[in-house]
Amino acid sequence: MAEEIEILKMLDESKTDIVKYILAILGGLGGFLFGYDTGIIGDAIIFAEQTLHLTSFLIGLSVASVTLGAAIGAISSGIISDYLGRKYTLIMDALIFTIFAILLALSINDFMFVVTRTILGFAIGVDSVIGPVYIAEFAPKNTRGRLLTFQQLMIVVGIFVSYWVGYALSFSGNWRLMIGLGAIPGIIIAAFRFYMPESPRFAIIKNKVNELNQALKRFGLIVDQTAIQKVRKLQEFESQFSAKDLFRKAVLPITLFAIGAALFQQFDGINVFIYYSATIFEHLGYSPTSATFTAGWVTGFGNLYPVFLAQFLLVDRIGRKLSLVISFIGMAITLLLGSWLVSLTSYIAGLSLLAATMIYLFFFEIGSGPVLWDIMPEIFPTALRGRGSSILAFFVWIGDFVVSFTFPILLYSIGISYVFLIYGIISALGILFFWFLTPETKGKSLEELSKELWYSKLRKA
Ligand code: GLC
Repeated sequence: MAEEIEILKMLDESKTDIVKYILAILGGLGGFLFGYDTGIIGDAIIFAEQTLHLTSFLIGLSVASVTLGAAIGAISSGIISDYLGRKYTLIMDALIFTIFAILLALSINDFMFVVTRTILGFAIGVDSVIGPVYIAEFAPKNTRGRLLTFQQLMIVVGIFVSYWVGYALSFSGNWRLMIGLGAIPGIIIAAFRFYMPESPRFAIIKNKVNELNQALKRFGLIVDQTAIQKVRKLQEFESQFSAKDLFRKAVLPITLFAIGAALFQQFDGINVFIYYSATIFEHLGYSPTSATFTAGWVTGFGNLYPVFLAQFLLVDRIGRKLSLVISFIGMAITLLLGSWLVSLTSYIAGLSLLAATMIYLFFFEIGSGPVLWDIMPEIFPTALRGRGSSILAFFVWIGDFVVSFTFPILLYSIGISYVFLIYGIISALGILFFWFLTPETKGKSLEELSKELWYSKLRKA
């Protein structure tokens, strides 16, 4: 039943397929705002709390509202994109990014601040699912991991930029500008996305091949004729699937793997480093500006460069499973060792924390960070890809909320050393989880994967 499908062909076969990289960047661009909007709040809130007279409860709520909005966005994204299509869902997100970055920057009170940030979060959540789904649905099997990793690359670039914008504007304390600047990439992304073609698998299913070919021509691409028939045949077959199939006993391990992988990615503590590193450096005695400056390099840059390694050397070569396992081994060792070192004298603690942050981020970004978003759209068949991916992303955002909300409480009650110990133990369990349960998706077409993970198990083939 599952035949191999390479869906897009170059009109002129002698040309390079660099254009597929451009499409992947267009799909993953929303990741930039995911990174920027989650990263900028740490600096912005310090100044916004004075203007808007935020209580500590409202500060927590304002920071967390983006993750809660994103959880709602993620879980609704399957339905929205089935209705609007992948392309127009991504355009809708970019428009929300733009409008609500401006409204958030203009907030006149705490209510407006929390509501606009929740809606901004909604768009981030939708994009976190549909960006990778869009990429997966046209990418060739041998470079799919690399193309999908553009999503995480955009996220880490967004975080990096947010740190430096936060640092530059912290001298004037202009939080409205910090947030409002997000509207500029928002409108640019919206404009670019108008020119991108619809996801080919989606367009074929919706009988929009002519429009698709028109749009593809601009990129020197065309849909492979034989692929159209194959996709339709599979679609007919997959039309028997419904959302409840995600929870059928035979395939439950895949759905549970998706949920577990999402929670492990968050409960290894990544966003404590992303959201709170400047605060932690301040606790170690750095002045606020030098804490932000240090975070810009140590966390912002330390979180960025390893993604290239994952993208070009790991995911399509050693595969998703091994990348994840190495990543969790590295994070577990760093956290457990770090937990002991930060409990020693304050001088050793300070140095160890800097070193631990850099090493930890390195291991996170060569596996856990990018590979989760890579594997999300790969492990579900086309008919269930939107809904399956939205469940996984929902748990990412809920996990993000729980970790970032509980961290300050844990820090003050049990201290950084025990907090590291908890995340270290969870990361150690992650090694076993990913070793035994990860389905390897490297080098297999989406149809081969559907057959292996779904059709054969549901025995409907
Ligand atoms: C991943 C995580 C996200 C985190 C980011 C850090 O994308 O899903 O929560 O902020 O990596 O680079």
